Amino acid sequence: MDKLLVQGPCQLNGTVEISSAKNATLPILAATILFPYPVKFVGIPDLMDVGTILKLLQSMGINVTKNDHEVLIDATTLNNQHADYTLVKTMRASVLVLGPLLARFGIASVSLPGGCAIGARPVDIHLMGLEKMGAQIEIENGYIKAKCDKLKGAVVKFPFPSVGATENIMMAAVLAEGVTVIENAAMEPEIDDLADFLMAQGVKIEGAGTSHITIHGMKETELRPSGKSYRVIGDRIEAATFIIAGIMTKGDIKVTGFNPSHLEFVLETLKKMGAKIEIGKDYVHIHPSDGLKGTMVETLPFPGFPTDVQAQMMALMSVVDGNSTVTETIFENRFMHVPEMIRMGARINLKGNTAFIEGVEQLSGAPVMCTDLRASAALILCALVAHGQTEIQRVYHLDRGYEKIDEKLTNLGSKITRVKGS
Ligand code: UD1
Repeated sequence: MDKLLVQGPCQLNGTVEISSAKNATLPILAATILFPYPVKFVGIPDLMDVGTILKLLQSMGINVTKNDHEVLIDATTLNNQHADYTLVKTMRASVLVLGPLLARFGIASVSLPGGCAIGARPVDIHLMGLEKMGAQIEIENGYIKAKCDKLKGAVVKFPFPSVGATENIMMAAVLAEGVTVIENAAMEPEIDDLADFLMAQGVKIEGAGTSHITIHGMKETELRPSGKSYRVIGDRIEAATFIIAGIMTKGDIKVTGFNPSHLEFVLETLKKMGAKIEIGKDYVHIHPSDGLKGTMVETLPFPGFPTDVQAQMMALMSVVDGNSTVTETIFENRFMHVPEMIRMGARINLKGNTAFIEGVEQLSGAPVMCTDLRASAALILCALVAHGQTEIQRVYHLDRGYEKIDEKLTNLGSKITRVKGS
């Protein structure tokens, strides 16, 4: 297993280009199952999770041709509607193949993803939606076994705006008979991007990016190739991570290649804390700022403060003046970075789903362990400002969702070495 050695403190300066969003790429690649023709992409990020979904598609007989960041996916050869435990267990988003498989083939067997480090994460809302559209679903030997004659459009009202369930139902609705309406849908920008991709293939969708999405079902023969390669939106979570890195190191950095309106709440919070931020059409420029103050943050579905930026925000809160709080409302167990940050000198107390953070003058380097993707990002941020060397173990968590993060940080002036493991 690789590890990272970070020598701190450092100051980041320069420009960093953000990669395409992992959380938009995964559902969009799953959606290629719907199309009886090859679909082309550019700018596909080189991430472990992307490798997993491509392997999953290949395991179903789909033809995947990858040339650096260009990917061609041809689902005409799909001959096996089975998503095996061996792949699904490594990435929960694999369950996104369920909706499109069922819509196109009327049958699917997809391993239940199970829990993960940050919480139990059931898929009941996904299954409820598909049942509402006429699917018969049983759980057998750890697998979701789903079948239907033909999915039927329906009004599907979610008890909670689940991102994955919204995506699964949207994809299923593309080849359903009639119109599907999702109420209390998730409004994340990644949903909007999935809708843009589907619309580029001729699908009619209204309201993506709002809580009320309408999808007009089509026949397979009515779908048509867009004739263009699709480029997925920039990763707002990666952008937020670099923005916070710039602020923490009191650097001068330009973070480009994403839409800052996707981070409105985060940027407002950072400005309130005293960060000097210039916002452009597709970039954010961080100017050095001193004397940042603590604040209160509560994670919420979009457009609220993203749970995926909570850990990185806590890294910043650990080194600003005064007290802060972070309340996590989306996942039940998403504070695993806290004990590791405490080992670096952070002062954090946990009570239920709230973390109380008292800013300290400085952190110190220590050996720490990554536990999940965003927790790992928070540890790197702490390491950039900590005095001395931080050894970050289990960086495969980081490689799941950050493309070449060590290289990008090195280009900005940090001292990071990757030590290859066995
Ligand atoms: C997606 C993102 C993840 C992000 C999360 C919330 C991807 C690949 N991942 O995950 O990075 O942190 O959104 O913004 O896009 N829930 C249920 N039943 C369900 C579905 C969800 O109880 O059927 C619960 C989950 O356990 C969790 C909450 O709802 O507590 C949010 O989950 P959801 O919005 O579905 O997140 P994901 O799509 O898994």
